[in-house]
Amino acid sequence: MDESGVQSDNRVRIFDTTLRDGEQSPGASLTSAEKIDIARQLARLGVDIIEAGFPAASPDDLEGVRRVAREVGTPDGPIICGLARATQSDIDKAWEAVREAAKPRIHTFLATSDIHMQYKLRMTREQVVQRVREMVAYARSLCPDVEFSPEDACRSDPDFLVEVLSVAVEAGATTLNIPDTVGYIMPGEYFELMQKLIRETAGGDHVIWSVHCHDDLGLATANTLAGLLAGARQAEVTINGIGERAGNTSLEEVVMALHTRRQYYGLTTGIDTTQIARTSRMVSNYTGLPVQPNKAIVGANAFSHEAGIHQDGVLKHQATYEIMTPETVGLSQSNLVLGKHSGRHAFRVRLQELGYDLDEEQLNQAFQRFKELADKKKTVTDADIEALISDEFYGPVELFKLEGIQVACGQPGMPTATIKLRGPDGQVKIAAAIGTGPVDATYQAIDRIVAVPATLVEYRVAAITEGIDAMGEVTVRIRRDANGQRTFGGHGADTDIIVASAKAYLAALNKMLAYTGYGDHAPEGDAATVRVAAQAR
Ligand code: KIV
Ligand code: ZN
Repeated sequence: MDESGVQSDNRVRIFDTTLRDGEQSPGASLTSAEKIDIARQLARLGVDIIEAGFPAASPDDLEGVRRVAREVGTPDGPIICGLARATQSDIDKAWEAVREAAKPRIHTFLATSDIHMQYKLRMTREQVVQRVREMVAYARSLCPDVEFSPEDACRSDPDFLVEVLSVAVEAGATTLNIPDTVGYIMPGEYFELMQKLIRETAGGDHVIWSVHCHDDLGLATANTLAGLLAGARQAEVTINGIGERAGNTSLEEVVMALHTRRQYYGLTTGIDTTQIARTSRMVSNYTGLPVQPNKAIVGANAFSHEAGIHQDGVLKHQATYEIMTPETVGLSQSNLVLGKHSGRHAFRVRLQELGYDLDEEQLNQAFQRFKELADKKKTVTDADIEALISDEFYGPVELFKLEGIQVACGQPGMPTATIKLRGPDGQVKIAAAIGTGPVDATYQAIDRIVAVPATLVEYRVAAITEGIDAMGEVTVRIRRDANGQRTFGGHGADTDIIVASAKAYLAALNKMLAYTGYGDHAPEGDAATVRVAAQAR
């Protein structure tokens, strides 16, 4: 550490909490297969730490973190971290979940702001200090790598924070994280607070300082960068900035700011920036949370130029209006063109380059779908391949599987859909319905077979690539009942948007059914035979 309190090493550790704070976003629920897939992609992206979940939340959460620890926490992979409140039972569960990782971490937290201590914890300052001492020491007795966060730090008394953090270091914490839990602080204030804490905390020069910001006032990235300038060397972030309420700091914004303005910051990360676009698409597809078109770095418009004067400039010299290239974040349009007669080997090689490790049977299956797509589309891009693979292999458990779909629509007319599904019992059921449009008819026909009520709360369709033959990508969110809090996202891709719509709805339904324990007590569907619903919804 130099005289101004800045830690001398210039490497920023990227701590990704997409699977923990990110999964707390309203509507973002992930299956354990999706979590593993995202964790693998985060490892490919080069994050240093994956916070894989909150093991005490439920046995499912514990199991999900344990799977990530086992399958992604290899010796040359990232640190795998589990979150725990400052209680012995939470810490035990976090340890149980992460202990199989080659590099495990326990992250424990306790609130330090007066408002949290008085109303939420009902604890005095002395009790908080004592609990931090005991629980950090307990976590450290289990795991050599312990992170401590004083929750709501940015609304806490700074001198009290110094006291609590000094105790945490003494008790064995190796990383100190300063969360702006409610997204309240301003960049200048955060800079000063971090400088003070780094300077005054006893033993503070032997730990890594970390920043964790929420975006309630749209300042999460600015605050994170201010904290790094003040000397922090770990940034807690999520892909696409997803998270509680307005979300967390987004990984792509911090990493690209450090990369693009490296002369200014003089800081580096271990991130392979060319994996950013792909990771963003995967997280959006799996959570069902779309990325706004004008989102920095990963929005659909982030690299498009509409105004003539801008287009003219970019054509003359890219740097006139682009401060970074689309290729840097992995948006190269590498078009792989395969026809009927060529390609199994090239397809396999491209899959490997994209990081997919399929066995022989999966490869055959994927290649079959690839050929069907190559028959319909002139060029098959990386984004098409990713959509196809995620559609084929990484969806939720397929309790109900789409076996066929026929839709008739037009003007004037009555949009009608006939759907064939294979149920969990292996039986094939067919149903038909009339709707206000082809998607409504399709969803009504599916509902007749599945026979579990669900409300569609969001439906989005987008083209994956440009051109009239582009694959359509549909994202939906559903809720089990009108008053339910939890929503389930689904994603489907196909050159036919009605087929993509059916796949997305089924993916969300399957996720919802798996979550609610469907299977042992499945209701009888009302469509053992062809049945046409005469009434529209
Ligand atoms: O925002 C927050 O305070 C958190 C802590 C658990 C670190 O997410
Ligand atoms: Zn948080």
